Amino acid sequence: MSSLTNSKAWTALKTHFQHIQNDSMRDAFRRDPDRFKKFSLQLNDIIFDYSKNRINEETVALLVELAESQGLKQKIEAMFSGEMINTTERRAVLHTALRNRSNDPVYFAGKDVMPDVNRVLAKMRVFCDQVRSGAWKGHTGKAITDIVSIGIGGSGLGPKMVSAALNPYGSDTLKVHYVSNVDQTDLVEVLKPLNAETTLFVVASKVFNTQETMMNAKSAKNWFLKQAQSEDAIAKHFVAISTHAENVANFGIDTDNMFEFWDWVGGRYSLWSSVGLSIALQIGMDNFEELLQGAHEADLHFRHTPFANNIPVIMALLGVWYNNFFDADSHAVIPYDQSMRFFSDYMQQGDMESNGKSIDLDGNRVDYSTGPIIWGQPGTNGQHAFFQLIHQGTKLIPCDFMAPANSHYDLPEHHDILISNFLAQPEALMNGLTEDEVKARLSPEDRADPVLVASKVFDGNKPSNSFLFKKMTPRTLGSLIAFYEHKIFTQGVIWNINSFDQMGVELGKVLAKVILPELKSNESVASHDCSTNALINAYKHYREA
Ligand code: F6P
Repeated sequence: MSSLTNSKAWTALKTHFQHIQNDSMRDAFRRDPDRFKKFSLQLNDIIFDYSKNRINEETVALLVELAESQGLKQKIEAMFSGEMINTTERRAVLHTALRNRSNDPVYFAGKDVMPDVNRVLAKMRVFCDQVRSGAWKGHTGKAITDIVSIGIGGSGLGPKMVSAALNPYGSDTLKVHYVSNVDQTDLVEVLKPLNAETTLFVVASKVFNTQETMMNAKSAKNWFLKQAQSEDAIAKHFVAISTHAENVANFGIDTDNMFEFWDWVGGRYSLWSSVGLSIALQIGMDNFEELLQGAHEADLHFRHTPFANNIPVIMALLGVWYNNFFDADSHAVIPYDQSMRFFSDYMQQGDMESNGKSIDLDGNRVDYSTGPIIWGQPGTNGQHAFFQLIHQGTKLIPCDFMAPANSHYDLPEHHDILISNFLAQPEALMNGLTEDEVKARLSPEDRADPVLVASKVFDGNKPSNSFLFKKMTPRTLGSLIAFYEHKIFTQGVIWNINSFDQMGVELGKVLAKVILPELKSNESVASHDCSTNALINAYKHYREA
């Protein structure tokens, strides 16, 4: 047995689970009119309601004890103070320094990183102002109208998610597009309507040798040169974001046009760095700094608030409660805000790449479940897709709902309908519908049909969290993202895993490099298992000349 599952705190939770696993939330709400007050928290205007969970005060106390017994307090300090907590990659984890708006020194290897952070932010500001004002001209003297950001994973998904969420803050004269997939469809369809004279490419890659990004960047360069007919024109149309100046120069981008970041920024935590340049180009540097400010406020909250009142810690502990005691395999993230349409995709990478681990920090195989499957899509669309299973299926799926009280647009009737659904779903999940209630709603004839009655019963007792905030602003979004980042970190601490490496994505990449030359040759392939061989050979046969 691992020290986690053997610990006093874990054992106490197990016993507690036996006692309360079947308790009804509906009854708990009936008994306690203060349940919302007891189980909700707030940071600025963000209300976090976790009262619709299968918990009582003792559950929270025991979960907090678990966090304490796993050394969460010390681990938080270790992260914020630049210790090498990413042990396998031997790196610090300092994305919090990127948004350290207090500007207090943050030391890494004895050196304050803040001057470097501020230098790059200042360079981003100058560049954004030039491009957004039209002062930055393309090679034919025209202002830039389109930004194409090329990058994948953390170097693509984060900026893309934020750009969509903050689109109302965007410039009318500058459109930002995202390309990540090596499938040519992605690049070709983005480039189709664009004009090379007025297009700026932002190539974002931490290592600057990621296969997909380099392929897309190379094809973008070819597309550009075909129209511009001059290598000299590249300097006005390509900028790079990377930790790796040499690879940037080898690719053919002048390092003067490079916005650096550092090894201590994990890929999936990098939108706060110069990887956020495309966001800043879209919404302006002041708004980008507001995003950083929101995240900084969440950082301060996470670092200094007692665990029982700490939003990301409570999010994490509830996740552990369902994952490890109720055996829930997945967790749905459902924003009632169309602008947040990529939020669950982004959190999918953030969470699953971080906590999809089965080896603990001491190198032992864990004997407990770690990161859940994260998925979701915006309400109300999700209601017409997967909600049936959440309400009446056989699986327990905890959900996070989130919504702004105000839209950026001006059709108030839409917003009230949206919000009525945002409020109704958690209520329905929690309350369910009993057989008596079903019968009371049916005609005498239908009431006599036992199959119909049974099919209309909702068990209820399905857990959810709700976030309600005033409006989707850069600051609010910054805080929300940081809450999730810290939730993921906290869970990693509890499960005693390294949330900051991603070894699991390597093997497939290595094998793809073996297969690529085999696809180019005309020989029949026999070096793999018979399934892979057959598919390779069928591909070569199907492929049009
Ligand atoms: O998916 C693996 C990964 O390393 C991510 O962690 C990262 O965000 C992505 O690839 C892209 O990496 P890079 O920014 O180095 O191109």
